[in-house]
Amino acid sequence: MFLSSLLKVVVASMWLGSGISQKVTQAPSSKLVEEKGAVILECTYDTSDSSYSLLWYKQPSSGEMIFLVRQDSYNQQNATKGRYSLNFQKTRKSIDLLISPSQLEDSAVYFCALQGPQ
Ligand SMILES: *[C@@H]1O[C@H](CO)[C@@H](O)[C@H](O)[C@H]1NC(C)=O
Repeated sequence: MFLSSLLKVVVASMWLGSGISQKVTQAPSSKLVEEKGAVILECTYDTSDSSYSLLWYKQPSSGEMIFLVRQDSYNQQNATKGRYSLNFQKTRKSIDLLISPSQLEDSAVYFCALQGPQ
């Protein structure tokens, strides 16, 4: 019998900076992914600021918070870094993280963070 390896990813969100009208939302909160496949982590946000940044972090079971990739709102192109790439839809206010190909080490809690003007 062939058992493919599965990794578990959980998404959460946070808000960095000041302001009360902003929020980030993500769904689904948890999923199992087959190793070597592509993983898409969805995040939508809401902000009244015209200039902001969106950041993705990863927190493995060791507890450390690891910065992955960042998108500045004025950037006309999707940010990418290694196996991570972003799908930034400014008008829809969504910033999805694509991880491809996935690895077992990608099992973690992922945080989508909205950072407004400091
Ligand atoms: C990011 O990529 C998606 C899919 O190709 C595209 O629809 C979107 O417009 C891109 N966003 C930016 C900011 O380039």
